[in-house]
Amino acid sequence: MKHPALRAALLACLTAASFVSHAAEPKLGAAEKLYQANCAACHGAKMEGAVGPSLGDHAWLHGAPTKANLIKIISKGVPEKDMPAWSPALNATQIALLADLIAANAAKPAVALTPEARAQQYVPDLSGFKLPKGFHISVYANQVSAARSMVVSDSGIVYVGSRKAGKVYALVPRADKQTADVVTIAEGLEHPIGVTLLNGALYVGEISRVIRFDNIDKRYAQKPSYEVVKVSLPNDKWHGEKVIKAGPDGKLYIPVGAPCNVCDVEDTKSAKIYRMNADGSQLEEYARGVRNTVGFAFHPTTKVLWFTDNGRDEMGDNTPSCELNVAPKAGIHFGFPYCHGGVVPDPDFAKGRSCEEFEPPVAKLGPHVAPLGLTFYTGKQFPEAYRNNVYIAEHGSWNRTTKSGYSVRLITLYNSKVVTDTAFIDGFLRGEEVVGRPVDVATLPDGSMIVSDDYGGRVYRVTYDGK
Ligand code: HEC
Repeated sequence: MKHPALRAALLACLTAASFVSHAAEPKLGAAEKLYQANCAACHGAKMEGAVGPSLGDHAWLHGAPTKANLIKIISKGVPEKDMPAWSPALNATQIALLADLIAANAAKPAVALTPEARAQQYVPDLSGFKLPKGFHISVYANQVSAARSMVVSDSGIVYVGSRKAGKVYALVPRADKQTADVVTIAEGLEHPIGVTLLNGALYVGEISRVIRFDNIDKRYAQKPSYEVVKVSLPNDKWHGEKVIKAGPDGKLYIPVGAPCNVCDVEDTKSAKIYRMNADGSQLEEYARGVRNTVGFAFHPTTKVLWFTDNGRDEMGDNTPSCELNVAPKAGIHFGFPYCHGGVVPDPDFAKGRSCEEFEPPVAKLGPHVAPLGLTFYTGKQFPEAYRNNVYIAEHGSWNRTTKSGYSVRLITLYNSKVVTDTAFIDGFLRGEEVVGRPVDVATLPDGSMIVSDDYGGRVYRVTYDGK
């Protein structure tokens, strides 16, 4: 195989195959498990296609998706095109199960195979989530394709950015307040992952610009027009997506990630956090040495900026740690690319510099967990012990031998000092099977918490009733 990533995916698959083959599940469950363990890495968790083709509505490369044809192609593979031969790694019964599963998927009407419909079909079993006693999780909104950052308006409308989907959504609470309708307010944008509200306007961070939808709560339903606020942001694609947050100072905070896994970009615009006036003027550097932050929040009482940062790759499974950082003033250097996780000098870039020169993280979140959005919970629904603490969405590792992250963490604080880091919501990862990837956390006006998931394309809601 040409691609090391494919080879790694395949090796992981082969190991997983023996792990699931004993499962005495009902027929379809067993087929689905085999598929997730062996095929999903290349064909997508929902057969939507990834490095391998979609196994749904497409022009089939190797004849009609009949059971016989499918058994043949799965068994023999197309080794020269990176589709492995699955016989004898899987036995005839297993291959037949997979052929049935794929034939059924291919037979579904095309309309059922839009990303939205597919996401909705695969709502994971909610009893597989683990939360502290008295907390409950439910689906707040489905069909929020590629849901990323969220911001909640005073009237309870949730604005959600997305990535490749290019859309920004409004989640409008239904009468029951337990679920929301999804309204697409803009589309065709360039990875609009960042959303924030300031003076009644919704600001959206695309890769190279910031746009503004005025008076959004009144206009979300009418495909509102927007103004361009800022166009001159560096537009590297690698780590180029931009969260955006309005600060307590009325300024907009925006990061520019490092366009690499690790590189020295000290003298460029990258690996920094900026802030600017709401009209786009006076862009200035706020923090540096930040590899790739995809989540900010301001402490509810001190008003200080807290942000996550994703650690570098290719130093093995267990180092360095991803970070939770605090930037109480402008001009602090957080270490990238010289020092990672506050304690690990970079093997290539440290060059005599020491970790002591740089601001260490206030919490080391663990290697490869991919911390993204965070929030301070200031609602009243959760018990006292859960309030004014930090909740972090960990998107989960993409290249670690054993997956890690895939969790919403609770970081407890005492006088702004980190005390503990424990799981608040687990179960986005079940065994090695991914059922969701948390991106952002926010609070609804009733004090319930919402969590976006760009893998399932939905938003979950967490409530507390003490039972
Ligand atoms: C390492 C990546 C990889 C894995 C793992 C993988 N496939 Fe594939 N698969 C491909 C590629 C690439 C193709 C397209 C081959 C070609 O171009 O002819 C393909 C083609 C196929 C096709 C034919 C599609 C068509 O359009 O005719 C089927 C069916 C299929 N795979 C089923 C499976 C099943 C079932 C599994 C798991 C047991 C699996 N694949 C695992 C990469 C993969």
